[in-house]
Amino acid sequence: MTKILAVRDLHLAMRTGEKLVPVLRGINLNLPQGEVHGLVGESGAGKTMLGRVILDILPPNAVVTAGHVDCATTGSQIKSGGRIFSNRGRSGISLIPQDPMTSLNPVKKIGKQMVEILQLAHTGPPRALQERAEALLAEVRIKKPKEVLKQYPHHLSGGMRQRVLIAMAFSSEPGIIIADEPTTALDVSVQRRVLRLIRDLQKERNTTILFITHDLGVVAKLCDKVSLMHSGMILEQGLVSEVFHSPSHPYTRSLLNAIPRYDQPREKLAPVAEDLQSQLIDEARKYDQQRQV
Ligand SMILES: Nc1ncnc2c1ncn2[C@@H]1O[C@H](COP(=O)(O)OP(=O)(O)O)[C@@H](O)[C@H]1O
Ligand SMILES: [Mg+2]
Repeated sequence: MTKILAVRDLHLAMRTGEKLVPVLRGINLNLPQGEVHGLVGESGAGKTMLGRVILDILPPNAVVTAGHVDCATTGSQIKSGGRIFSNRGRSGISLIPQDPMTSLNPVKKIGKQMVEILQLAHTGPPRALQERAEALLAEVRIKKPKEVLKQYPHHLSGGMRQRVLIAMAFSSEPGIIIADEPTTALDVSVQRRVLRLIRDLQKERNTTILFITHDLGVVAKLCDKVSLMHSGMILEQGLVSEVFHSPSHPYTRSLLNAIPRYDQPREKLAPVAEDLQSQLIDEARKYDQQRQV
């Protein structure tokens, strides 16, 4: 399979005053064409930052201290050297964000927002772009797309808004999609339908997806491979079938042992034993000390 994204020994830190606080510590990730790769970890693990490096939309105080990101879809490369990224975003890679409400402009109609996105990748008369927007909404199974285009985001339910954002993410025919906890803010029944939609669109187009989630159940259903992340490090990585069947890291084992049941809410990872947590944080500190020697 062709490799379309390669993250090599990537180190990222956040500048706070004079200090550089490490956030990603030696990340390696290969995404071949068409792979759905789950990125799992607790809050603060660095999942969103990893997604943002790949998208090249880092906050201004982020510094890549080592490593690089190569992307075949854009031919672009992001290298270390302590510089801040261009922060312009990268063509060929789209984001499905976590929060469908704050990710849409509340004072613009859906149609206008979609046309603006389409104009970035397509040329053509406004009418053709409007028709393209309508077709995209139909593809994400929105009924009466013509009417939805004339509405404002607050007219739509959370699930509908997320469908609009999914349509926008797929509109540029991206090679890679970063889905950052795209269903966390939705009701469980809506989550299931939105996940099925993402999976169907991915299959039809053979899109590569980095799927960030708290939910190992989602990984089992959706992903080919998985990376387990803690304190900015990937602790375990492999085929979902193998990792779930015979996890090699204690952190993975502890998460799998605590998989929430279907009759309980599944938004958050189950708590990991405190001693394991502090052990992982100690290991991250040791890693930082060794790098500074
Ligand atoms: N703008 C920022 N400035 C400084 N530190 C940040 C900023 N955003 C996130 N961080 C830190 O980076 C780490 C990783 O954050 P994040 O990638 O958002 O984690 P996750 O998505 O796994 O919950 C956290 O420790 C967080 O405190
Ligand atoms: Mg996050």
